[in-house]
Amino acid sequence: MVSGELWALVREIHARGDSIQLYWSISPEIRQWEESRVEKVRKLIQSTTGESYDIERLKMLPLDPKFGRFILTDGEIDYGILWAMKMSGECARVLAFSIHTNLQGKGLGHTGWKKFADEAIRMGIKEVQLEVRQDNDSAIRLYKRRGLKIRGQIIGFYRGKKGWLMFGPLNSEPSPQ
Ligand SMILES: CC(C)(COP(=O)(O)OP(=O)(O)OC[C@H]1O[C@@H](n2cnc3c(N)ncnc32)[C@H](O)[C@@H]1OP(=O)(O)O)[C@@H](O)C(=O)NCCC(=O)NCCS
Repeated sequence: MVSGELWALVREIHARGDSIQLYWSISPEIRQWEESRVEKVRKLIQSTTGESYDIERLKMLPLDPKFGRFILTDGEIDYGILWAMKMSGECARVLAFSIHTNLQGKGLGHTGWKKFADEAIRMGIKEVQLEVRQDNDSAIRLYKRRGLKIRGQIIGFYRGKKGWLMFGPLNSEPSPQ
């Protein structure tokens, strides 16, 4: 079910047509955002992944200031996020990677991952881990092409659906296949 607010966003994207210029940028700390902005991103995560978080939890995520707060934006609206944290000196964990449904499959995820990986590598990160639902075939393929492998199973997080823990070297480009 798409909310009225999301439809308004979709209409806005269409109204802007080809003039829309989207780019990945590092945002300020989430706890500094206006409540309405966090709420929109909360809805974006929910509509793209089915995962439900409360606003206070999102504000408290320990996102890395250099490579962990990427947003896909036109300068005004958030159309996607790639949020990550540092796990250790050389390992990052991706906490959220979501792009507005109407904008998926256009290469924006590829450029978002590249931005994140290039910046994280520059900060000395060599490995990455993340969790993904087992039925999310396209995301699993995306991660496998970038060198991640399934390391374990997650049970009891995705509303009854099982997840995979994926881990591997941090690569900014997919391997040719
Ligand atoms: C996962 C997600 C962020 C990827 O962003 P995207 O903009 O759709 O991805 P892109 O268009 O850049 O495509 C990424 C890759 O998947 C491929 N791809 C895109 N859509 C695909 C599809 N429907 N089926 C198979 N492959 C597809 C592309 O060819 C590209 O290949 P590459 O790995 O060689 O670069 C986005 O689809 C999304 O928000 N999905 C819903 C939320 C989600 O599942 N998040 C991940 C949770 S861990």
